[in-house]
Amino acid sequence: MSDRYVVIGHPVAHSQSPRIHSMFAAQTGQDITYDKLLAPIDGFADSLRTFISEGGHGANVTVPFKLEAYEAADEVSERAGHARAANTLKFDAGRIYADNTDGVGLVRDIRANLGVAPEGKRVLLMGAGGAARGVLLPLLEARPAILVIANRTVEKAMQLASGNQHQPLAAHTELSGAGFASLAGQQFDIVINATSSSLSDELPPLPDKLFAPGALAYDMMYGKGLTSFLSYAQAQNAALLADGLGMLVEQAAESFWIWRGVRPDTRPVILALRKG
Ligand code: ATR
Repeated sequence: MSDRYVVIGHPVAHSQSPRIHSMFAAQTGQDITYDKLLAPIDGFADSLRTFISEGGHGANVTVPFKLEAYEAADEVSERAGHARAANTLKFDAGRIYADNTDGVGLVRDIRANLGVAPEGKRVLLMGAGGAARGVLLPLLEARPAILVIANRTVEKAMQLASGNQHQPLAAHTELSGAGFASLAGQQFDIVINATSSSLSDELPPLPDKLFAPGALAYDMMYGKGLTSFLSYAQAQNAALLADGLGMLVEQAAESFWIWRGVRPDTRPVILALRKG
């Protein structure tokens, strides 16, 4: 029998993860099945328990269960602990191991697929919710010179920044929290949208001239056409525009590695997904 994996979410019908992992499995010759599992909003723990008792090997976890997935674990990775959220679970000898591959997926997409090295760069991370928290540690590990976390609710950005200032990693990076208005006059090489504003076609209130020459504008959301943030970035002459599709495939590849010990080639999978 093939080893069984699922993505658990609510909703989950839209998830591309089964398609991505099927392509990884075909490419690497791994014998797995990967399905969608819709858990009731108040039934994550039950759904997880049932899947494990039926012989499940591992799971990806998506909105809104990443915090519950983290809490369900017997053992958590440093990056999941830092994010207080998990998107990858592995079941072994009755124990649940939790990891978070979102941040490493983002950094790998920026570095390997888009060819932009975050080292020594000025990085702006917009948002201070779960999505921003999930990518902060791997972003700091990439050693930018400056990392500003900007959020509509300024205190949340301040809290997220001050909670990370004592990390040894922050020695390489000037880390701070801010509101959007106080960004006026500053320029960044990499601007990452980790707010959920693109979901509602909105835009954080950004000052003009935020993008340094050659800057990358990155929206962690993806969809058909440009998100509202990427349209704005284009109008502001950002040199490179990227949506979150590459991050989606890269975080999946890291999960696949955790489960199977094999690293799939992400490039053909990203290309296939771009085609629709
Ligand atoms: P997620 O898990 O997607 O991060 P979240 O934890 O609810 O979801 O956080 C949403 C983030 O998007 C927050 O940083 C939120 O800003 P506030 O903390 O001020 O609420 C941000 N956000 C959502 N809509 C926004 C908008 N229209 N403009 C600016 N920021 C927005």
